[in-house]
Amino acid sequence: VSLRPYNTFGIAAQARFFSSFSNAAELEELLKTPPQQGLPHMILGGGSNILFTQNFDGFLLKNEIKGISVVGEDDSYIYVKAGAGETWHGFVMDCIKHNRAGLENLSLIPGNVGASPMQNIGAYGVEIKDCFHELEAYHLHDHAVVKFNNADCRFGYRESVFKRQYKGQFAILSVTYRLAKTPKLNTSYGAIEEELKHMGVHELTIQAISQAVINIRSSKLPDPAKIGNAGSFFKNPTVSAEKHAALKEAFPHIVAYPVAGGEFKLAAGWLIEQCGWKGFREGDAGVHARQALVLVNYADATGNEIYQLSQRVMDSVAEKFGVELEREVNII
Ligand code: FAD
Ligand code: EPU
Repeated sequence: VSLRPYNTFGIAAQARFFSSFSNAAELEELLKTPPQQGLPHMILGGGSNILFTQNFDGFLLKNEIKGISVVGEDDSYIYVKAGAGETWHGFVMDCIKHNRAGLENLSLIPGNVGASPMQNIGAYGVEIKDCFHELEAYHLHDHAVVKFNNADCRFGYRESVFKRQYKGQFAILSVTYRLAKTPKLNTSYGAIEEELKHMGVHELTIQAISQAVINIRSSKLPDPAKIGNAGSFFKNPTVSAEKHAALKEAFPHIVAYPVAGGEFKLAAGWLIEQCGWKGFREGDAGVHARQALVLVNYADATGNEIYQLSQRVMDSVAEKFGVELEREVNII
């Protein structure tokens, strides 16, 4: 099966076998009667955080579990469970429509609900761990359904157990979020304040914040329907206070934010731009002209061409700044 329609980078890789499932029983059936014994399995969501550098010689299983329902309520919160195959933005819009607060800053992130805990998706001052309640996951070998609460997932910046020790072991079936009845609005990200002013917003609501985030994102991130990409290709690196001070001395305009433990997070987009990559294009592989952290496929780049380009970007950042970038996108 050609995977081109199934990954937002638009890479024309192939999967040996491909099926979709819309509930746990269907998944179990597919796993117990595999097209061929011994082949690896992989779960696919919206394909918006993945780069195929080669064909997938295995069984790719697309999660299409649907449904959104309220599963609990207390004085302050509503607990809403969403099927892993619901689109993330659709789920966020559903929360906002019902005045359930907490995820509005995460509007317009591509992909599906089931992948949201994988890397603890985040944007504009919020990460899903701030509202995550629990998830249900199916163990691909033990065939058991296991619940994970917030602590079990060990969320970090673009991290969770599902990217680390449990990598490739579980299919996330559903995720339950804890949404606030009374919003705690977060406009800590400077660009949101600016955009709200620009929009002429007087009454701050979750709807207004969502719209501001949508406007900002649309102005700088490439739309995968037009230009292939998977969002930020690298993580923003964290460096020690000493390293930051030395960099600041040599590069007074460096963009950095203090984080816990006295360390600093650097804007990788700035580092990459300073190395001259912003707007770079070779063949159909490139670095986005409005956001240097995003690598793009203009049409027919191969996954390997994108990967090679990412290596050149990493090498030049290491050479100029002595900082090692880490890829954020899942490389297959
Ligand atoms: P996929 O790409 O399908 O899968 C990603 C990984 O998760 C793979 O390893 C896959 O095997 C695994 N996986 C997927 N679903 C399941 C499941 N149900 N069970 C087990 N494993 C699973 N991310 C952010 O955090 N913040 C952003 O602001 C952001 N902006 C983006 C902007 C653009 C334009 C794009 C294209 C991407 C952006 N991303 C961002 C990255 C991406 O949207 C998220 O990582 C998203 O959560 C990926 O979801 P998906 O369903 O497409 O996952
Ligand atoms: N910058 C540049 N040049 C660039 C890009 C950025 O100088 O080409 C500098 C600017 O100073 C800017 C700062 O970097 O103010 C931060 O840029 P931006 O607000 O665009 O955010 P980011 O750090 O590049 C991160 C996430 C995004 C998320 C945004 C908003 C990571 C790896 N990326 O990007 O997530 O949407 O913040 O919160 O943490 C993704 O994961 O795919 C993704 C898009």
